[in-house]
Formats: sequence, C-alpha cells, structure tokens
Amino acid sequence: MKILVIGSGGREHAIVRKLKESPLVEALYCAPGNGGISRDAECFPVNAMDKEGMLALAQEKQVDLVFVAPDDPLAAGMVDFLEEAGIPCFGPNAAAAQIEASKVFSKNLMKRYGIPTAQYEVFADPAAALAYCQAQGKYPVVIKADGLALGKGVVIAQNQEEAKAALHSIMEDKIFGESGAQVVVEEFLTGPEVSVLAFTDGKTLKPMVSSMDHKRAFDGDKGPNTGGMGTISPNPFYTEEVAKECLEKIFLPTVEAMKAEGRPFKGCLYFGLMLTPDGPKVIEYNSRFGDPETQVVLPRLKTDLAQIVEAVAQEKLAEVDIQWDERACACVVMASGGYPGSYPKGLEIHGLDAEGQAQGVTVYHAGTKLEDGKFLTNGGRVLGVTALGDTLEEALDKAYAGVEKIAFTGAMFRRDIGRTHRG
Ligand code: AMP
Ligand code: GLY
Repeated sequence: MKILVIGSGGREHAIVRKLKESPLVEALYCAPGNGGISRDAECFPVNAMDKEGMLALAQEKQVDLVFVAPDDPLAAGMVDFLEEAGIPCFGPNAAAAQIEASKVFSKNLMKRYGIPTAQYEVFADPAAALAYCQAQGKYPVVIKADGLALGKGVVIAQNQEEAKAALHSIMEDKIFGESGAQVVVEEFLTGPEVSVLAFTDGKTLKPMVSSMDHKRAFDGDKGPNTGGMGTISPNPFYTEEVAKECLEKIFLPTVEAMKAEGRPFKGCLYFGLMLTPDGPKVIEYNSRFGDPETQVVLPRLKTDLAQIVEAVAQEKLAEVDIQWDERACACVVMASGGYPGSYPKGLEIHGLDAEGQAQGVTVYHAGTKLEDGKFLTNGGRVLGVTALGDTLEEALDKAYAGVEKIAFTGAMFRRDIGRTHRG
C-alpha cells in the first residue's frame, strides 16, 4: 500500500511511525509533515486544508489510501472530496465529522439517543443564555462555543460575571468567529477524565486502550488549558467494569445513533469521558485521533495499523482481531517557553540524533523543522518524549530520562505527568 497522511503534529508522527512498521506499506507520504516526520515519510508542503492540492498529490503518488488526521480538514469535507475522486480514506466524511465540529449537534444526538452526558440548553442569544445561567442558581456552569475553536471554546464560569464575560466574548466579540454563533450551556460535572479512542467502520466498533491527558500548562493542573502537555496509557481509573459500562451505554449507542441519523462514522472516534458519581458521561466527542493520546496508544498496538485502516475503509473491521501490548506508555510534551501564549520559533534542539531520536525513548515531533541537518523549534508543542514500561512508573522514569537528554532554550514541560491522580 501507498499511504498519504495529512497533518503535521505529534499525532501524525505517531501514526506515520506505526504505519512504517507494517510490511503492507510500500510507500509513506505526509503533507505538510514536520522535521521529525520527514525522517520517516516523504513530506510535501501542501496545506492540510488544500483539497485540490491533496488530490493532486494523492494522484501523482498513486496512493491507495489517505489518512486524514486533523479535525479541520475532516469538518471541511476533505474525505468527501477525495472519495468522490475515487481515493479511499481513513476518516469520517463532513456529515459524520459534525460529531466534533458542532457541539449543538453532538449534544442533541446524545439527548435523542439516551447517551449519558451533562444536562444542557442551546442558545443563539447571549441574554437568554445568561438568564438561563442565573436561573440555574448554581455555579460553576460550563459554556461551550458550538463550533471548532482550537480546543479553546470551553469556559468554566465560576460566577455570573465570568458567565457574562464568556458569553460576550464568544457570542458578541465572536473571538472564535461563527463557531460562537450558538453556545451550549451545561451542567458542571466532576470526576476523573478518561480518553478512549475507538476504530469504527460505521457498523463495528473496536475500542483502543484507554489514556489520560494533562491539559493544563503547569504542574498540579494549574495554568491555562493547552492542547495537552502529556499522556499516559492505560488510564488508572478505567477499570474493566467501567470499560464494559462505557461500551454498552456510550460507545455502541453512539455508533448506532450515527448510523440511524444517516451519518455512519468511519475512522477513529474519540470519547472524552468523565467518570462522575452517577456513572460515566460524555464530555466531548472528537472525530479523529487525539493529540497527545495517540502518542501513548499506538505504541501499544500490536496489530498492523495499515491492515486496520484498510479494513475500516472497506467496512470490514469485524474481520480484524486487534491485539494490544500489556505494557504501559507515557508521553511527556516539551513545549516552547511561553506556550500556550506567544513563543519564539527557530531555536536549535540539542540532544537528538540524525533521525531526530534520543536513546531509550521514541521522540514524536510536533512543532519542529529540519534545516541544514539541524532540528529547530517550529511550534508551541515541540516534542512528545515517549516510552513503554512494564509498569506506568517505569514508563514515566524512562520518558523523563529521555527529556533530560534533550534541550532547547526556554523548553517547558510538566514534571508531574501520570502523577496528578495520586493527589
Ligand atoms: P473540551 O474542550 O470539551 O474537552 O473541554 C475542555 C475541558 O473542560 C475538559 O477536558 C474538561 O476538563 C472541562 N469540561 C468540559 N465540560 C465539562 C463539564 N460539563 N463539567 C466539568 N468540566 C467540563
Ligand atoms: N488531547 C485532546 C484532543 O486531541 O482533542
């Protein structure tokens, strides 16, 4: 198979490296890719949103499948466009990608099909939304922009002033553009969070091993929300019993609901869950692999990823037996100083070999570029330093030993990945 992966982050590097292990894969391309990915796949400077550009590239390279990894091109119909031209894809079409791209759609879906989630109301008018917050009579309340907002469209308002400010900036100042034309106002839930990715071909669903993300910038879950500062797999809270409940009450009903709505979901469906005192509830769906969840889940996949991806595209997932490594995996993100605010770019990264790797760990590149044989920083999240271990403790020790070998000016990372849940 010849496969083209669309995207340019640590998630895409993890996908590329896993596909590279497959004896079925004869050529691997990535667009636009990054410095580290260019050591594992041939990269082309085509923007992830450029449908015509991607089609031209896929045709020129005669690829057998395009793996669309990021949310934006999925929501914008990249899969629809390529499939119309006869190119098989891994990823949902635009109608199915609405499960992530519109929170109003996903909340209404859950309500219609009885899938457990936080209570909510939808508003297109900020005054009505604020009146509802007040009428609830208790804070915090959670305010979510309807559309895609680079992971920043969720505000947990602690009081009426904060609710008012959030509604104003989302709905009137339109800081996320049309994504804020409507908002979901929902009940604040508590409990540990779990991420579960699942392969689905629209009929069959096979969950992957669980993981835990660390979204806040600083140790002790302090500071601003980020795209994710580190992950572990498995998630210690996700017991077999909880997994069974999630499969029966959430995962399978979601696949059925999407089918019943005439939007069968094909690709990777991401369940962001909260284990509340009333049982597991859906916080959000994503229509794609998570970043940096992928970096700890795919290293544990023993079955050939190319085979799975092909089976999903052909709607034959039921025929594939998927096996997982029992070992734990940990990923520590090294970010640019200042992230998630503004940060410098173009700083030399020390401690990587010519392949962009370091001893004892796998280094997934997120924001890097390769210039004159040197790896330079080129984004907020720069590297995901990842290791497997017989225990979570061992995986974390190895990952942190890897982090110690790597340096760039201002490098920022959390020292408590995988440790927060111990209080
Ligand atoms: P999201 O972008 O939907 O993943 O939301 C970002 C984060 O906000 C989640 O990871 C949760 O920590 C938090 N969050 C979202 N919805 C709720 C809720 N209903 N109750 C409590 N926390 C929430
Ligand atoms: N790590 C969360 C996400 O990929 O949306």
